Amino acid sequence: MEPLDRRSFIVTAGAAGAALAAGSPVSGAAQSNGAVFISTWQWGIPANARGAEILGAGGSLMDAVEKGINAIEDDPNVETVGYGGLPNAQGEVELDAGIMNGTTHRAGSVCNLHKIKNPISVARLIMEKTRHTTMAGEGALQFALSMGFEPMQLLTPKSLEAWLKWKNDPNHKTFWIDKDHHDTIGMLGTDGKGHVVAGCSTSGLAWKIPGRVADSPLVGCGYYADDSAGAASATGNGDVMTNYCTSAFIVGRMAEGAHPQDACDQAMRFMAKTAPDVTGGEYCVIALSPAGETGAASMNAAQPLQYAVWRGGRATPLQTAPAYRR
Ligand code: GLY
Repeated sequence: MEPLDRRSFIVTAGAAGAALAAGSPVSGAAQSNGAVFISTWQWGIPANARGAEILGAGGSLMDAVEKGINAIEDDPNVETVGYGGLPNAQGEVELDAGIMNGTTHRAGSVCNLHKIKNPISVARLIMEKTRHTTMAGEGALQFALSMGFEPMQLLTPKSLEAWLKWKNDPNHKTFWIDKDHHDTIGMLGTDGKGHVVAGCSTSGLAWKIPGRVADSPLVGCGYYADDSAGAASATGNGDVMTNYCTSAFIVGRMAEGAHPQDACDQAMRFMAKTAPDVTGGEYCVIALSPAGETGAASMNAAQPLQYAVWRGGRATPLQTAPAYRR
């Protein structure tokens, strides 16, 4: 997947800005009545397109969000999700994902999954085939294998080379100190009939300490969905955002009547109020109401969030107006 030029993303500020962009028609995309998808980063565009295609072909909204995220997990060029995701400090790719059904209020999530390139599909099966919500590590792998997933090497030549370069650098930083390299795919959808689904998938921070779990696979942190209020997802520094239950925070504000944009802005402001140093970090969120209103916010100008909205057969690349100047 080719990176998109930053300038091709329309900067949004506030609810009006988020609603304004009309977008470009997507050739061949099904125009499902009232359906809306919103996804993080530049790969949100192909994720949304795949989701719309699935929904337009008669799939469920859950199918659409799962398959939309699968498209990014399968892409070896996305270094922070699925196959080709950068590994942990020991050179092992550890994947995290979660998905939530806003009607049933049920979620499934998988943490530290090795050797399986589609953790969002494993998370969905945990939700649908078991009474559990979250599975991790070796048990999660055994569950995936029992469900028929094929184990594979998730390192690509490119990600192996990147890990070796880091490993062989005598001055390399570790997470006993710091390092930033994380972008998830967060995807939210509504079917236009009041149903919402939220999903999130990541390989987490490059070179993370093995066993590290951050916000993405944790329900309420990386993703949350409730048909009575809306859906939200988070991307960025998950070690910090986990402490804020960001997605549940946003959906909670929407349950009280906030527009998705206001709810996202409130999340950024609350984080900055309680931990002022976060205004220099990468913290980004997206939100969607059951009626299809969207919102997105990011903490600072150095790291705006590129995201994508699909509505009525039109795909719009957008970029947040950050909350803080740094
Ligand atoms: N938000 C993704 C991560 O920190 O792993």
